[in-house]
Order: sequence, then C-alpha cells, then structure tokens
Amino acid sequence: MKGWGGSQLKNKQVLLAARPHGVVEESHFKIVESDIPHAGENEFVVRAHYLSLDPYMRGRMDNEKSYAAKAEVGAVMVGTAVGEVIESRHEKYKVGDFVETRTGWQEYGVSSGGGVRKLDPNYVPLSAYLGAVGMPGVTAWIGLNEHGKPKAGETVVVSAASGAVGSAVGQLAKLKSCRAVGIAGGKAKCDYVVNELGFDACIDYKAGDLDNDLAAACPKGIDVYFDNVGGPTLNAVLNHVNAFSRIALCGQISGYNNPDALTVRNFRSFLVNRIQARGFICSDHMDLWRPALKELGELVHNGKLKYRESIAVGLDNAPKAFIGLLNGRNFGKQLVKLV
Ligand SMILES: NC(=O)c1ccc[n+]([C@@H]2O[C@H](COP(=O)([O-])OP(=O)(O)OC[C@H]3O[C@@H](n4cnc5c(N)ncnc54)[C@H](OP(=O)(O)O)[C@@H]3O)[C@@H](O)[C@H]2O)c1
Repeated sequence: MKGWGGSQLKNKQVLLAARPHGVVEESHFKIVESDIPHAGENEFVVRAHYLSLDPYMRGRMDNEKSYAAKAEVGAVMVGTAVGEVIESRHEKYKVGDFVETRTGWQEYGVSSGGGVRKLDPNYVPLSAYLGAVGMPGVTAWIGLNEHGKPKAGETVVVSAASGAVGSAVGQLAKLKSCRAVGIAGGKAKCDYVVNELGFDACIDYKAGDLDNDLAAACPKGIDVYFDNVGGPTLNAVLNHVNAFSRIALCGQISGYNNPDALTVRNFRSFLVNRIQARGFICSDHMDLWRPALKELGELVHNGKLKYRESIAVGLDNAPKAFIGLLNGRNFGKQLVKLV
C-alpha cells in the first residue's frame, strides 16, 4: 500500500446528476472516483470521517432562487463534513487537526480555510459537531431564544421532535423551565422524545388525531411553536396557539418534495391571536454562533443535552440515506460514516 496520495487510493464523490422535479431518487445522484487532491499554496486536504446529511440539501438540488447558492449539475453535492487534516500548506491548519469543512459529499476535500472550524474530539464526540454542537444545534438555539423567546412556565411545541434540530429545541425549552411538547412520526420516536430526552409529552402525528392530541398535551394552549415541518401540522397548531404566541418558522420539510402541501388553512389565527411569526435561517445570525456553540458544547459535554444519530456507512449509501431523511426514516441526526 502506498501513501494516501498513491495511485491505489481514490477519492469517492457523489455528484448531482440531475435536478429532481418532486420526489428525489437515487438516479439524481452519480457516484464517481477521482484522484485524491493535493493541497495548493495556503490550502489543506481533509479526510472526511463523517458527512452530514441535512434537509436543506433538497433545496440546493432545485434550480429556484433561494437564500443560498444551488448545487450545480455535474458537481460534487454540497455539504459539511468533519474530518482530519492529512496534508497542509496552510499556516493555521496542521496535519492531525480535526476540522469541520464544507467540502461536500466526498471522502477527501481541499480547503483554503473559509468557514472552517477546528474541533476537539476529546471534548465531545467528533460526530456531535455536525449535530447538537453544530449547525442543527445552533439553529435550535437561535430559533428558540431569538424568535420563540420562551418564558418559564410557557408551553413550547416543536415538530420533527426526535430529529437533529427538534430534539435540541425541546431540551433547551426544558432547561428554561417550559413545558416541552414534541410532535413526531411514530410511537418509537415519541417514546424516545419523552423517556430519553425528557419532554413532557410527544404527539404521534401519524396516529391521525393531531388536533385533539394537541388540545390534550397543551392544556394551557401553545405559547411558542418551533415549526420544522409546515403543512398540516402547522395548520393544526394554529388552532391551539395563545394570544401573543410566537412561531419560529425554521423548516417546511413536509413540502420539500411537494410545495403544494404547504397551504396554510387557518391564516385568521395570525390576526386573532396577534401571532409573531418569523422565518429565519441560522446563517442570518453569525454573531450568535459563538455563544450558542459554547453553551451547546458545555451541555453535551456535561450530559445535559442528549442526541441520537442515524449512521449510514460508506459514501455509496449517502443518496439512499438522504432520501430516507426526507421521508422520516432517520431517527436522530443523519450522518454518513466514511472512516
Ligand atoms: N432555518 C434554518 O436555518 C434551518 C437549519 C437547519 C434545519 N432546518 C430545518 O429544520 C427541519 C429539521 O431539520 P433536521 O436537520 O433536524 O432534520 P431531522 O428532524 O433530523 O430529520 C427530518 C425529519 O423530518 C420529519 N419529516 C419528514 N417528512 C415529514 C412530513 N411530511 N411531515 C412531517 N415531518 C416530516 C421526519 O421526522 P418524523 O418521522 O418525526 O416525521 C424526519 O425524521 C427541516 O425542515 C430543516 O429544513 C432549518
């Protein structure tokens, strides 16, 4: 076996092969192999240990105008990974450093340091930097604190409650002495949210009685709704919000494959209840990342913020795992293990 740059080792990559119209299929991706890259001046090469799969990637596959640049057909799919520097010509990053980089769906990537975060895998596990101590955790922290603004004793409801963002939202709400109510798909996820994460209640929206279940789980109404899904779940929540409630509009995953599913039926509730609803993107608030990550890191390090991961093994399985994420087959933060 030669060194990592030798001819026997290749860099596996997942390219966007075609833009989906509606449901994503494996045929929208193409797996290729190329030579492992070398670092140019002021660059370094990272071997990815874990790739993060996130719902936002569905939007990047479309051709439409959005808050971020789309993925290009024929190019490596966009994404964030954590891994180890294996070659460096950059003064700030040395071989052996662990980093988070936006090198996309590939095993080895080159970076010049933009948007890179150095990581300490002895403080929290490396993979946690893609979840509770990474972008999803920060999203939960910002959406809850900046837009939800919960007060002790209030009721906070969050959808996709067992997932990367939702699981953190409910636990942070509990730490603020709120009543935390989750909404998730299926009994196993709901049991986990209550028994492992410590939410006060969790509603299985797939059981088919969301409206009555919300009334039962939120006897004092809903003060804060952290919306990860939009669609029918948002419509049901709007029937139970209190006057002057806040809605943090974080995601609309129920319509990512089918935007027609996102119709809001009870718009009158916004007026009658004087709801303050705010859409937000975590990157709008870069000034808050440092305090958020500090708190989230301490909580995970001290075992006060729990998380769960769904781990696909090998880059070949990334497309399938991503399609599963869009269909609720993940149970916790979806990752692809590469090393
Ligand atoms: N605004 C921002 O800056 C920002 C940043 C990160 C994430 N987000 C958004 O936050 C949401 C959660 O992201 P995440 O990374 O934490 O993902 P996640 O919750 O770990 O995984 C996605 C979950 O969405 C649920 N889901 C899928 N299809 C659904 C449907 N039709 N109706 C209801 N729920 C459905 C599934 O859970 P169930 O089995 O429980 O249905 C699935 O497990 C997404 O909408 C994402 O786009 C926004």
